[in-house]
Formats: sequence, C-alpha cells, structure tokens
Amino acid sequence: MYNFQFYNPTRLVFGKDSLNELSKLIAPSSRVLLMYGGQSAERNGTLAKVRQILSQCKLHEFSGIQANPDYDQLMPAVTLIRQHNIDFLLAIGGGSVIDGTKFVAAAARYDGDPWEILETYGKHIQAALPVGVVQTFPATSSENNNGSVISRYSIQAKRSFRNPHVFPQFAILDPEISYSLPPQQLANGVVDAFIHVCEQYLTFPVNADVQDRFAESLLTTLKDTGPKALATPENYDVRANLMLACTLCHNGLICSGVPQDWATHKIGHELTAIFGLDHAITLAIVLPALLQMFREQKHAKLLQYAERVWQITTGTEQQRVNAAIERTRAFFEQMGIRTYLQDYGISAAELQAVVDNLERSGMTALGEHKNISLDISRQILLNSV
Ligand code: NZQ
Ligand code: ZN
Repeated sequence: MYNFQFYNPTRLVFGKDSLNELSKLIAPSSRVLLMYGGQSAERNGTLAKVRQILSQCKLHEFSGIQANPDYDQLMPAVTLIRQHNIDFLLAIGGGSVIDGTKFVAAAARYDGDPWEILETYGKHIQAALPVGVVQTFPATSSENNNGSVISRYSIQAKRSFRNPHVFPQFAILDPEISYSLPPQQLANGVVDAFIHVCEQYLTFPVNADVQDRFAESLLTTLKDTGPKALATPENYDVRANLMLACTLCHNGLICSGVPQDWATHKIGHELTAIFGLDHAITLAIVLPALLQMFREQKHAKLLQYAERVWQITTGTEQQRVNAAIERTRAFFEQMGIRTYLQDYGISAAELQAVVDNLERSGMTALGEHKNISLDISRQILLNSV
C-alpha cells in the first residue's frame, strides 16, 4: 500500500426527513444563496421545504444551472454574491448543481480571471465561500468531495478542478428526495458511481486489502441495488443503500494508498464537450473498450474483480477476464444505457475532434501508468464505435 493522507471534513446527514436538520446547520443570521437547476427541486417540493426551514435566513436564489454546468452561465452568480454580500451557498441538486456551486464559491473569492481556476486545476485557490448541499441525485459523490467539473460551451471545453476549500461543510442525503428521478437519470447515477470505483480499483494490486474490499462492497451493492431501484423506485431501503454507496464511491477513501486510472473519465469528458452526451453514457461507452485494451496490464485486478464481484470462477484466466468485461457491459445495458458510440449516431469519422480536445486539455498521458497516449485514446475511441 502507498503512503497517503485522508482528509474529508464533510458532515453527512443521512436519512428520512434529514432535510429538517438544515435549520441547525446554517446560522439564522446568514445571507444564503440557494443554487439549483431546472424545475425538479421545485416540482418535488424540496425547494419549498428549504425556503420554509431557512425562513430565518436572508435568502437569495440562483436557478437554471444546467447539466454539465457552464462557466458563462455560472458567472452571474458571482456578481449576485458580491452585490448582496452573500456568505453561504446552498446547492440543491445533483452533481452539476453541486459542482457549479463549488466553482462559484471559489470564483467569488478568487483574485484574477476565474477561468484560471480550471486551467490550473484549482491549485491557486486560497479561499472559498462555505458550501452546503441538499443532494437530490445519488451519483457523483460531489456532495462529499473537493472536486468540481465545469464546462465552457463557447470553446467546447470541459475541465475539472480540486481544492480542499470547496469540500461542502455538510451534505443532506435524504433518499426520498431522489424518488422523483426519471429512470434514465437513475441509471446514469448508478453507472457513474460504479465506474468511479472501477477507476480506483481496476489498476494493479498493491496489497491494499481494505481499499479492495471496500471497493468490492460498493460494486456489489451497486450491481444489486441498481436494477432494484429501477424496478421499485419508491423502495426506501433500496434507495438508501444506493444513495450511501454513491456518496462513498468517490469521496477520497477507496483511492487512498492505491494507484488510480481515471482515463475513462478524461476521455468521457471530451465526448460530453463535443457531442453533449450525458456523463455516465460516455463512461459506459469508454470503459469496456479500455478494459479490453489494457487487459494484460490490469490482469490481476480483473481476475479478482471477476471472482469477487461477478462470482466468475471457472474457465481459463483469459476466459474469466473476458467474462468479467462482458458482464460489466451487460450490467450497463441492463440499466438501460447503450454502450457503443454508434448507438448515439456517432461515427469513427467524427472522433478526431475528441482527440484534439484531449490534446488541448493536456490529457496526453493517462491511466495508472500514464501510458495512454493520444494515439491509444484514439484507438480506444475507435474500438468503442
Ligand atoms: O436541473 P434539474 O431540474 O434539477 O434536473 C436534473 C438534471 O436535469 C435532474 N435531477 C436531479 N435531481 C432530481 C432530478 N430530476 C428529478 N428528481 C430529482 N430528485 O437530473 C438531471 C441531471 O442532473 P446532474 O446534476 O447533471 O447529474 P449528475 O449528478 O450525474 O451530475 C453530472 C455532472 O457531474 C460531473 C459530471 O461531469 C457532470 O457534469 N461529475 C462530477 C464529479 C465530482 N464533482 O466529483 C465526478 C463525476 O465523475 C462527474 O464528472
Ligand atoms: Zn463520473
């Protein structure tokens, strides 16, 4: 196991009616900006409850944060914060709203051009406004980590940053708030979370038994509860297990002390930037092709994954690896997510733009061994058509 530091200061407030705890988590004297997306939080009644619970605070609102949040759309929130001297940001939504809120929190306290935050991966952030989260969509773990992914559609860019100042102070995780998710979004969340674990687990062994067993527990929980959540969207126990799993998949715990891949995410981000595909869909397309291509490099972990997650114990080692990759793809398809670019009308001829964007974003040496060059990324994409 490698040396590591683990730091995660976010308070998780989990369970039925946990929204009511909000009044104890934000001081009544606060000037709060409620940040949310389209209509879902209004329609399912969450916003009305938040307004009522925080009625002692001075409330302002910033709405319309879109999926894959856009830099130019977010910047007016920074102006609003300065105008009203806002001192607390409350994100009510999924990964996009939370990421957008984290970015605005840092941008409001940033000296210089805020786009620099993305260009320098968040390295120069010195401060940020405090952020709280009401999670409405189990998926990204953004509510429990210090990362954020921001797009800038005007230049077809999708970039990420990371900084300890943007860890949310708290995250409210009430499984019932997510009941209103449409099946396609629910599936996206399960698949995104599953692939977060793969990125931190399907690399090479470093004798990290605790991290491996945690990762296998999360993968098993997701593969079992994902289809159940689709079939029984208002089953509390299923949704609670799903929500907790999603929160822990990418919160800094299972990546501590182990090698990490993340090439699927980096390539996937560019597919979203160019073609506008949902984040999880891009991952479900790229991961199976990447695993096939790196099956030798990842051999030991793929065999372990085959046995411990999919109970594949017979056949030669190569057959077991094949079966594990096939089961992974079949799981995504079972969740309702198609796993080839052609399923979305994208052909091989259109992929050079993705490779060019990878180059522009500096993503020229990806993966746990930094051996995924632009040419190999191109091959992975071609194998995903
Ligand atoms: O806009 P509204 O009306 O709120 O609708 C949203 C949105 O259209 C809807 N939704 C959310 N909660 C709902 C609901 N609909 C009904 N009922 C509810 N309870 O779902 C749609 C998608 O939401 P979004 O926030 O975009 O989804 P997700 O949580 O999957 O976030 C995706 C974003 O997170 C980034 C992705 O790149 C993408 O931009 N990621 C962030 C990460 C991080 N910060 O650590 C890591 C991830 O790998 C990922 O890259
Ligand atoms: Zn993801």
